[in-house]
Amino acid sequence: MTSSTTRRNCSSFWDAVGREHEVCALRLEVSGRSWPTIRYRGSVGAVPFLLASSITTVAKKPQSALLSVVAIVSLGSTLDATRCTCSQEINQTMVTDHDIELAQHRITGHVRRTPTMSTAAGELGVGHDLTLKLECLQHTGSFKPRGAFNLALASEIPRSGLIAASGGNHGVAVAYVARQLGHHAEIFVPAISPKIKVDRIAALGAELHIGGTVYAEAQAACDIRQSETGALTLHPYDAVETVAGQATCGRELQAQHPEIDTVVVAVGGGGLAAGFAAAYRDSVKLVTVEPETSRCLGAAFDAGEPVDVTVSGVAADSLGASRIGQMPWSLLSIHTDVSVSVSDDAITAARKAAFVELQIVLEPGGAAALAALMSGTYTPEPGERVAVILCGANADPGDLV
Ligand SMILES: Cc1ncc(COP(=O)(O)O)c(C=O)c1O
Repeated sequence: MTSSTTRRNCSSFWDAVGREHEVCALRLEVSGRSWPTIRYRGSVGAVPFLLASSITTVAKKPQSALLSVVAIVSLGSTLDATRCTCSQEINQTMVTDHDIELAQHRITGHVRRTPTMSTAAGELGVGHDLTLKLECLQHTGSFKPRGAFNLALASEIPRSGLIAASGGNHGVAVAYVARQLGHHAEIFVPAISPKIKVDRIAALGAELHIGGTVYAEAQAACDIRQSETGALTLHPYDAVETVAGQATCGRELQAQHPEIDTVVVAVGGGGLAAGFAAAYRDSVKLVTVEPETSRCLGAAFDAGEPVDVTVSGVAADSLGASRIGQMPWSLLSIHTDVSVSVSDDAITAARKAAFVELQIVLEPGGAAALAALMSGTYTPEPGERVAVILCGANADPGDLV
């Protein structure tokens, strides 16, 4: 039998007796060669023979009947394995339904329930009906207050207040949270942060530090300052409460449109997409979208683990994380069904179309998911009911007219 393992995302693989199974990327390590983590989609009883015969540890998801398997499989040149040992257990309960419920309870009254709107096939040049989740209308112009409020309200806030690094939107959100809750905030942004975001942070009364060229450098400066002041760090994406807060956006969409079977969402450090992964688990097809020039999730899938990437492009201030967050990765490596990247031109075209055809102002990062559909980078199947998360509006609208 020949190996039919694929590197990632849902695909097929054949077991030792030739049955085809749907899988999502299995980490197979065979004499020095390795592949990323496999998620086998099937019932426990249908575990392929080659794995069932040798798996030592499996993680069964509490939320579904699906079984996840992470294993190192010793193989010959074929897939009829003789030995299989568990290399790593994926902790799929890192953001639980309970975490999301707590987040919903904490942030109710602090964030808006954002509306949705529908577009018909043909609008925006997309040959498909779409449901748009207008999270660009959230307080501060992005989804970020969800996670920031949840993390702040879940914690004891010291006298030195809140501190955060951000490409811009998270900084605006933390400044807003601090003002609403009556705390001091220090925000570190890189020099690429657009003026509109920097001005908003300052207008909200936060202490602003501008330094470094990309988000990762601002985060390093923020970490040093935090060790001096003891302020509470609100991480933009790599914290359970941040992701649980972003997951409330997913819960809202579930309630507003239970029929949705595909969610298309942008990725920076991965907190927003991980929130959708936590909210939906495997009940939708999760399509993640990154700019071609800032693709830390795509690079992680290629490498089988988070790696550093260089970042640039029109959406670098919002989607320009140099490395996918560890916490988001633990969810996205399991729940991402399709991961695509879009060009700067496609992002710019999506922004313009949203403004001209729908009168919706989006920033580049907020338009990336729409760009994937408009550019045909992601083409839904006939009948697929697709939701697109429009997640940020903080850009100078001057270049839209
Ligand atoms: C508008 C917008 N969209 C998407 C993202 C990506 O979010 P995350 O870092 O949680 O992946 C950001 C992050 O700043 C953003 O500002």
